Amino acid sequence: MLNIPLMSNNIIPADIEALIAFLRTSNRFTNGPKVREFEDAWSDWLGVRHSLMVNSGSSANFITMSVLRDLYGPGEVIVPPITWESDLAAVFAAGLTPVFADVTLHNLALDEAAVMRVLSPKTRAVFLTHVLGFNGLSQSMLDLLAQRGIVLIEDVCESHGATFQDKKCGTYGLASNFSFYYAHHLSTIEGGMICTDDEEFYQRCRLYRSHGLLRESSDAEFKSAAAAAHPDLNPEFLFVVPGFNMRSTELNAVVGLSALTRLDENNQKRCRNFELFLSELDPSRYYTDFDLAGSVNYAFVVMLRKPDPEFFSKLTSCLSAEKVEFRRGTAGGGNMARQPFVRERMTDFDPTLLHNADFVHFYGLYTGNYPDLDSGKIHVLAQLLNSI
Ligand SMILES: Cc1ncc(COP(=O)(O)O)c(C=O)c1O
Repeated sequence: MLNIPLMSNNIIPADIEALIAFLRTSNRFTNGPKVREFEDAWSDWLGVRHSLMVNSGSSANFITMSVLRDLYGPGEVIVPPITWESDLAAVFAAGLTPVFADVTLHNLALDEAAVMRVLSPKTRAVFLTHVLGFNGLSQSMLDLLAQRGIVLIEDVCESHGATFQDKKCGTYGLASNFSFYYAHHLSTIEGGMICTDDEEFYQRCRLYRSHGLLRESSDAEFKSAAAAAHPDLNPEFLFVVPGFNMRSTELNAVVGLSALTRLDENNQKRCRNFELFLSELDPSRYYTDFDLAGSVNYAFVVMLRKPDPEFFSKLTSCLSAEKVEFRRGTAGGGNMARQPFVRERMTDFDPTLLHNADFVHFYGLYTGNYPDLDSGKIHVLAQLLNSI
């Protein structure tokens, strides 16, 4: 029995020790100095001016879409069909309109030609997802958005440490979102981060994170102007935007600080694992032409070379028999445009038009790739897949 879970040992004894030490010596357990320290460490690691810790990657999505709408007005946001539920939910919730563009197979991210076809004067942003550790950016995509003056927001929830050219993914957009859920490269148990170089975007995110309260702003000028504009309101309870409570606890930040010290080393191991896996996979049966430049995958993407429902069904039975955990459809379970909550809101859109997303939906899956997955098991897994 191969017995490969999706993730293993993402929280280690050293993290637990750090937590216990913190609990023994601290008396403040929510959004405080440890959150601030982790935000600063994350900003340094990523290479951005501001990071704002929240309680999940989904919260990061809801906040960035709300701020996008406030700063750029209502309109359309181009989204990929291979993404997560909350990427779509956040667009809907902010009163923005999602517009799907298909993905490419080589990195499972938005296809620039498809984006070009759906751009319109109503487009406010492209909300690109870096899927399962692949870099999803290209210079031509960045040039296209720059030429048209369209904002880029990056969902990097699944791709901590992936790079494009000489910088990390998450430093190219106006803002970027990370998730620290257990299954990802770095876990704080639950948690997320919003990153940006833009002062105004950052300040608005601060407000949304904590009830929309003016006192959450760290911009003294903005605070005094807003207080002066509302003399009838108590500045301690001045709700500037329709905010949420999406703050993190200090405990999650303590785990994050501990885990960050091993992220780069773990990512190197993940890269070696995925390269080994792909090199052993039979390219006549499986798609192996992924663009690995800058990628850091926490999953082995297994995608058929040709559509073949029978083969795919044999593949999933074989993995189950060997207790190799897997997720069909890759990120978010495949073509998100097929999901009921999307179809109810986009009744005119035909999800089968997204051919590549549909291919991934029906003939793709992923299995776990964690730092201590040994090369012997990787070899046996590849041989097993080749023998189907
Ligand atoms: C691409 C992507 N975006 C957003 C999220 C949401 O993150 P979270 O689970 O922390 O809410 C996930 C979830 O795992 C994800 O894979």
